[in-house]
Amino acid sequence: MRFDTVIRNGTIVTATDTYAGDVGILGDKISAMGAPLPTENAGRVIDAAGCLVMPGGIDVHTHLDMPFGGTNSADDFETGTIAAAFGGTTTLIDFAIQYKGQSLRQAFETWMKKADGKAVADYAFHCIITDLGTAQLEEMGQLVREGVSSFKLFMAYPGVFMLDDASIFRAMSQAAKHGGLICMHAENGGAIDVIVQRALAEGKRAPKYHALTRPTTAEAEATGRAIALAEMAGAPVYIVHLSCNEALEKVREARDRGLAAYAETCPQYLFLSIENFDVPGFEGAKYVFTPPLREKWHQEKLWKGLAQDTLQVVSTDHCPFCFKEQKELGKDDFTKIPNGGPGIEHRLSLVYTGGVHGKHFSPNRFVQLVSTAPAKLFGLYPRKGTIAVGSDADLVIFDPNREDVISVKTHHMRVDYSMFEGIRIKGVPKTVLSRGKAVIDAGKFVGHAGAGQFVRRQTYSGV
Ligand code: URP
Ligand code: ZN
Ligand code: ZN
Repeated sequence: MRFDTVIRNGTIVTATDTYAGDVGILGDKISAMGAPLPTENAGRVIDAAGCLVMPGGIDVHTHLDMPFGGTNSADDFETGTIAAAFGGTTTLIDFAIQYKGQSLRQAFETWMKKADGKAVADYAFHCIITDLGTAQLEEMGQLVREGVSSFKLFMAYPGVFMLDDASIFRAMSQAAKHGGLICMHAENGGAIDVIVQRALAEGKRAPKYHALTRPTTAEAEATGRAIALAEMAGAPVYIVHLSCNEALEKVREARDRGLAAYAETCPQYLFLSIENFDVPGFEGAKYVFTPPLREKWHQEKLWKGLAQDTLQVVSTDHCPFCFKEQKELGKDDFTKIPNGGPGIEHRLSLVYTGGVHGKHFSPNRFVQLVSTAPAKLFGLYPRKGTIAVGSDADLVIFDPNREDVISVKTHHMRVDYSMFEGIRIKGVPKTVLSRGKAVIDAGKFVGHAGAGQFVRRQTYSGV
């Protein structure tokens, strides 16, 4: 047996199993597993003693090089995928936005160009639909067949991204017909806009009012409505960036009734809270994203939701804007602060720290949440999301006991602050392979721009 690379002495962790074993790689693929594998003819032998060998992380919610709020998200496909790789993420699914009057194809082609020649690891796209006529409805099936098998719709941001219920229902029905999955930004945008206007009229302009004008009830109502529309359409639905217990309960009720309702949360909702706005001056703008931060007690509910499979995925909603010049656009008016926060780099470490060391769930559940369930839900499995013969050799050699402190001084995202500044993590990726090639080697970047490929995803088939 000949291998390009053999990973030896590690503990292999998948969503279902934990065992001592070696992983053999030939070309892009995992070609053998066993203990021990012969290494005489191996191009490279990586010693993973003391480490976990896990499938590469899959982040299904990122916004790289995205125009929003009068500016562009600060990471492009090169800097964003480098930062992702440092954190053990080897595949991401970004969003191609269809603006009003455009075809879905235009959106897809625009975002393909943004990523081309830049990404250091693999990527795919969801398509955000903001304008759904007959032509775009037709295009949904075509896009699914070309590997863009999920669509994000907004129930918030009236006049910009928001779709009405009839359009949502049509899109869900069409997605169900073609094997697509609808991802829903669930907040009642109409009610929120009224609350926002009232706050501005009362002179409430500081960053914390972004959070105080987007109540949990607005998220719960929209989550329940999205699930009801999906039930009527006979479609699965995936709620993105779920932030609070009230919305979680809507997903739990739906799942208890056997509906194909899924949801993700993000590290910011697990580690940060409304108390983060208790900082001087305009600093709170660092935490302006949507849905907003909630009271601290929601965190424990979300961790439980992850453990009990009410929530299936942790993604990042990475949407970075620098504090200087970008967040500052809203210095005198919170509605002008570009919404979004940086998080692509620390998802695995944060979830391992809080989830596994925090005794909420096992390392296998961790793998399920950050890699396997995302792969299964979004048509990447078994090519990605597991360690098996024939799967892409996207692998993370993860030191579960190494500690670090998150800081803007050491992160690799192209943004001038960290939402998680000062948080101590335990569990850090050491070496990261993307389709058999090292991208991060003993903590150093060794990949190159353009090595990442667009991945055509399969249709939705459940988890
Ligand atoms: O504030 C956020 N989440 N920005 C990114 C866009 C979105 O709604 O996911
Ligand atoms: Zn959203
Ligand atoms: Zn987002």
